[in-house]
Amino acid sequence: MHIQIKRLIFAACLMVGMTIHTVKGQQHKRDMDNFINELMQQMTLDEKIGQLNLVTGGDATTGAAVSTDVESKIKQGNIGGIFSMTSVARIRAAQELAVNHSRLKIPIIFGMDVIHGYKTIFPIPLGLAASWDMGLIQETARIAATEASADGLNWTFSPMVDISRDARWGRISEGSGEDTYLGSRIAEAMVHGYQGKDLAATNTLMACVKHFALYGAAEAGRDYNATDMSLHRMYNEYLPPYKAAIDAGAGSVMTSFNDINGVPATANKWLMTDVLRNQWGFDGFVVTDYTAVNELIDHGLGDLQEVSARSLKAGVEMDMVGEGFLTTLKKSVEEGKVSEADIDRACRLVLEAKYKLGLFDDPFRYCDEQRAKEEIGNPAHLAKAREAAGKSFVLLKNEDQLLPLKKHGTVAVIGPLANTGSNMPGTWSVSADLERTPSLLEGMQSALGNQVKLIHHLGSNLLDDAAYQERATLFGRTIPRDERPEAEILAEAVEVARQADVIVAALGESSEMSGESSSRTDIGIPAVQQRLLAELLKTGKPVVLVLFTGRPLTLTWEDKHVPAILNVWFGGTETGKAVADVLFGDVNPSGKLPATFPQHVGQVPLYYSHKNTGRPLADGQWFQKFRSNYLDVSNDPLYPFGYGLSYTTFAYGEPVLSADTLLRNGNLQVSVEVSNTGSYAGEEVVQLYIRDLVGSVTRPVKELKGFQKIQLAPGQSQQVAFDLTEEDLKFYNADLEHVAETGEFIVFVGTNSRDVQEKRFYLKD
Ligand code: BGC
Repeated sequence: MHIQIKRLIFAACLMVGMTIHTVKGQQHKRDMDNFINELMQQMTLDEKIGQLNLVTGGDATTGAAVSTDVESKIKQGNIGGIFSMTSVARIRAAQELAVNHSRLKIPIIFGMDVIHGYKTIFPIPLGLAASWDMGLIQETARIAATEASADGLNWTFSPMVDISRDARWGRISEGSGEDTYLGSRIAEAMVHGYQGKDLAATNTLMACVKHFALYGAAEAGRDYNATDMSLHRMYNEYLPPYKAAIDAGAGSVMTSFNDINGVPATANKWLMTDVLRNQWGFDGFVVTDYTAVNELIDHGLGDLQEVSARSLKAGVEMDMVGEGFLTTLKKSVEEGKVSEADIDRACRLVLEAKYKLGLFDDPFRYCDEQRAKEEIGNPAHLAKAREAAGKSFVLLKNEDQLLPLKKHGTVAVIGPLANTGSNMPGTWSVSADLERTPSLLEGMQSALGNQVKLIHHLGSNLLDDAAYQERATLFGRTIPRDERPEAEILAEAVEVARQADVIVAALGESSEMSGESSSRTDIGIPAVQQRLLAELLKTGKPVVLVLFTGRPLTLTWEDKHVPAILNVWFGGTETGKAVADVLFGDVNPSGKLPATFPQHVGQVPLYYSHKNTGRPLADGQWFQKFRSNYLDVSNDPLYPFGYGLSYTTFAYGEPVLSADTLLRNGNLQVSVEVSNTGSYAGEEVVQLYIRDLVGSVTRPVKELKGFQKIQLAPGQSQQVAFDLTEEDLKFYNADLEHVAETGEFIVFVGTNSRDVQEKRFYLKD
C-alpha cells in the first residue's frame, strides 16, 4: 500500500480511537456525577463533614495527636479515610464497619506513607534520584503499589517532590534533590508507576503529591520553618515538579506545614485555589499534612474554628488527624462562616476519588489474602530492589582504581553502620520489616558466600554524645552503643582491621539522622567516626569508605585522605548484597549526584543553577576582593551536581549543533559522541544544560534541560542526540508569563554540571 494512504488510515484510526476514548471518559464522568449527586442528596451535613476527616489507624504517627474512638466514628459516618492501617484483615474489618454499619455505607479510603517501597524497600528517594533512570524509578513505584494494594491499601502519600538546596534539612532525603528538571521527570515517573493506567485496577494506588508547596526551602534548613520566596523563583524553580506530577494525573495533593510569604500553605487560598485549581486545572482532592490545620493556631491565624474554616475555604478538602473540620465546620456553617456549598464541594471531591478507585463498585476490591501472599516481598521485587540499590550508589572517589576489589582474601567491615539491618531501609520506610532486613555485613556475606572472608568490628559509636545518638536511632533503628573508653574500642577495631587485606569502613549517618525533624547544623561524618577512619587509614591497608547518608555531606577531609569513597545512601532491603555487587565489580557504579556536595556547611544553600551576580569571580579564581566569594573557602562544591565516577572511563567528542539558530516552532539537534575508553562495560548519564545569556530577568548560569543514560561496552561509542525546542528555553518572566526570549544561548554537554563542553546558538523569531 502506498505509504501516504497508510498514514492517512493510521491517522483516521488514531482519531477514531481518541474519540472513543474521549466519549468513554465523558460517559464515565457523567456516570460518576450522577452517582455522587444522588448520594449527596441523601447525606446530612454531619455525614458530608465526616468524609473530610482522615484518621490514623495507629501503626505510625509523626505528630502529637493520635486518633481515638475510630470504630464508633466509622459507624457514625464521621470518617472518610484511614491511614497507617495495614494488613488485609484489619483493613477489611474497618471497611466492613463502614459499609455494613454506617447509614449510607460509604467506603473508606485507606492511605499510607508508601514512600520508597512497601515491604520490599528500595533506596531512599534521594538515592533513587541518583540513578537518573526514569524507567527504573517508575518500576519501583509500580512494585510499591503492587505490594501495598495487595495488603488492602489504595492511596499513597507519595511522591514527595519538594526541591531542596539545603543539605541541613533532613527531608532532602525524601525528595529528588536540588534540580527542577530532574525532579519534574521523577515526579511524573512516580505518579505513572503508582497509578498505572487505571486507578480502579486492584494493583494501583492513588498518588498524593507532597508537600504543596515549597517545604524544601524552609529557612536555615530547619524543619517546619517558614519559607519566604519571590514568585519568580517559585514559578521557575520550585513549583514545576508539583505541576509535573499534577499533569501526570496525580489524584491528590498534600499541603505543606510551612508558612509561605506570610500565609501557611494549609490556609493559602492563592496556592490551593488560584494556582493549583485555576491555573493548573487540578481536579483531585487536597489533604492537609499531619495536624496541619491545628498548627495554624500556633502559626497565629486564630482558634481551631477559625483556622478550620479558613483551610476549607482556601481549597483544602481533607483534614489529616487534627479533627478541626469534624468538630468545628458544622458550627461555622450555622454561624455563616462557611457555606454548605463549601462543604459540598469538598465532600464531592473526596467521593470522586473513592469512585475513581472503584470503591463504590467493590469496597473490598483491594482486600485479597491470596494476592497479599503472592505479592508482598516477592523474589522478583527483591531482585529489582538489589538492582535499584546498585544503580543508586555514587562512586565519589577511586584513587588508583582501588575498586573493584578481587573476590578473595579477608575484608574487615568496620563501623557503626556495618551490622545494623534496621538502618538499611532508610528514613520513611514505615512498613519495612526491620527485624528481617539484613545488615550490610549479612547482605555482603550472603552475596559473597565463602569466596571472601568477612570480619567485623563496631569500630566506634555513631555519635560521641549518647543523647544525640538516642535521638538519631528512634523507631527501632538501633545501633549498639559501647560505653568503654574510646581508645579501648579503637585499639580492638584496629586489631581486627590489621588481619584484613582491605578495610571497608561503614560510616556516616544513621537512617534517622535524615528525614522528618532531623535537620543538622553540622553535615559532616560525626567526629567519633572520623577518628576511627583516621586510625583505620594509619594501618596502611587500603580503605574503602562505604558512606551511608540521607543528605549531601561535607567530606572535605575524607576526600583528601581516603582512597575510595562509595556513597550508598540508604539502599533499602537489599543494601548489603548490592554493596557487594558494586565493591567486587559485578555491577559497575553509574549513579550521579542529584544534589551538590558542598565543601563546607557555610556554603549552603549551594546549587549549580545559581545566578551569576553582578560580581562573579573570574574563571579559575577562587578569591578576588570585591567579588562574590568567601575569604576562607572557594565557591566550588566538593562534588558538583550530576557527578559520579565509574570503573570505566568515558570520553566525549565535541558537541555538534545541527544549526547555529533555533527558530520558534523549529528544533535544534545537539549531538555528541560518547565512547567507553576503559576496560569495563558501564553506564553513563549524558547531561545537557543551557544558559540564556541575556534576558528580561536574570537567568541561572546553567539549567539542566535533558539527560540520557546509555550503556557502552569497552571500546564502544555512541552518538547521543538531544532535540532542543523553544519550549526548553522558556521561563517565567517578571509578569509570570511563560516565554522564550530571542537572543544568544549556550548549550553545555558533559558528564556532570561542572565538566562540560559548550557551544552557542541563537533563538530567533
Ligand atoms: C509528614 C508527611 C506524611 C504524614 C503522614 C507528616 O508528618 O510530613 O510527609 O505523609 O506525616 O504520615
